[in-house]
Amino acid sequence: MREETIRISPEEMAQQQRFAREFAAREDRPQTYYIVTYGCQMNAHDSEKLAGMLEDMGLTAAPRKEEADFVLHNTCCIRDNAERKALGNVTWLKEVKKERPELMIGVCGCMVQEPGMADKLLRQYPFVDVAFGTGNIHRLPELLLRAVDTRRRVVAVPEEQSTLIEGLPIHRDSDFQAYVTIMYGCNNFCSYCIVPYVRGRERSRDESDILREVDMLQKQGVKEIMLLGQNVNSYGNDVPGGVTFPQLLRRVAECGVPRIRFMTSHPKDLSDELIAEIAENPALCRHLHLPVQSGSDKILTAMNRRYTRESYLKKVEKIRAAAPDVGLTTDIIVAFPGETDQDFEDTMSLVRSVGYDSAFTFIYSPRTGTRAASMPGRIDPAVATERIERLIALQEEMTQRRFSEMIGQTQSVLVTGQSKRSDRQITGKTSRNISVNFEGGADLVGQIVPVKITAAGKTTLKGKLEQA
Ligand code: SAH
Ligand code: SF4
Ligand code: F3S
Repeated sequence: MREETIRISPEEMAQQQRFAREFAAREDRPQTYYIVTYGCQMNAHDSEKLAGMLEDMGLTAAPRKEEADFVLHNTCCIRDNAERKALGNVTWLKEVKKERPELMIGVCGCMVQEPGMADKLLRQYPFVDVAFGTGNIHRLPELLLRAVDTRRRVVAVPEEQSTLIEGLPIHRDSDFQAYVTIMYGCNNFCSYCIVPYVRGRERSRDESDILREVDMLQKQGVKEIMLLGQNVNSYGNDVPGGVTFPQLLRRVAECGVPRIRFMTSHPKDLSDELIAEIAENPALCRHLHLPVQSGSDKILTAMNRRYTRESYLKKVEKIRAAAPDVGLTTDIIVAFPGETDQDFEDTMSLVRSVGYDSAFTFIYSPRTGTRAASMPGRIDPAVATERIERLIALQEEMTQRRFSEMIGQTQSVLVTGQSKRSDRQITGKTSRNISVNFEGGADLVGQIVPVKITAAGKTTLKGKLEQA
């Protein structure tokens, strides 16, 4: 089962650039593109790379997908509804293609990497022109060129997705916030989760590649960097003698970008060294996403999470003691196979005692090929819905409590844009990753400003700009 990391060679990357230039020179090619992105930050960042490659290939971004010559769906398969949504949208384009036969449709991302999916796309989705997996996004120039050349469908899904790809062009969505991947894949095999199957084994990027990228972003004036990995705490474990995640964080912070975030920390690997670094390093944002998944030891064991309720709560206590201003958020799955009323109550009581700023809550969704999919004790959907509703209501109460503690405080806010409601309202994020709306001019977008918190809504805060 162990897969070797395959580093894509500079020669292969240069070859792809030649394909890109060849593609750009053709007249019979699509001129505009639109990427529909599903799923997590990993996918959002992959889409920035796909956009970078498409722009190198001479395409420009279309404002709406209905107007694009090439529509690429970067899919997610974490839960059944994510997958259904993507396939539904792909099918919808079939009608557009009837009117505009030159429209090219692409599908990529995690869903394509699922066993059997490439076949399904070939058989049931004949209007899809090009499909490729997460392990070969760098081959987009070659694949599109081949599709245009042969006027035939091109499907390329590597069995081996443990590739490490450096040097792709990136078309970033924002000038002042940037994603930087530090590691790909996951080794944890939580029993419910499909990610290790569709994203391959953990492989860490070289520290020097990461630092070069962060340095460049700092020079470009980027204000906030989000370091990405499915389990950032195990950064470097696959490299003999490599640096640890806290060491990497320190070096990244030394590059001088004012705000550094990271996602996701697996609780089993959250070390004292990391807690100390968060407490001491002012560039690290006051936010930690620490998915607990369940408050019941029986369910945590069945999920293969490899921590207990008690050890999780101990870590929370340590963080609170070392850095009381750090806000915690989490992910929770309800109705995992075998979850009794008592197991669920254990989750409720954990949520009550931690006091998260917010939580992403999900009803368990069986994924073919994962261990949990064949576990007995499926929960009645009505019970699952009732549980998630109770959990959401409890979390709303906790969020209210946390938010109201912030009223009267002055927080530094990175202004991310204008509010949708009014021209004079702008919106931004606190270091603790909470949205704040306040009055101010569009000229502040991209800046970090002091804002006094005046009121708390359900999911956002209200504030007043203070003189810096
Ligand atoms: N690597 C991250 C999470 C990736 S997936 C981590 O370990 O935390 C994001 C969240 O989706 C998970 O934390 C989990 O709560 C949820 N999730 C994953 N698989 C799921 C499934 N089969 N059904 C329901 N929720 C799931
Ligand atoms: Fe999935 Fe678990 Fe890996 Fe997160 S740590 S990606 S939940 S297997
Ligand atoms: Fe992310 Fe979904 Fe893939 S959550 S890693 S895009 S399966």
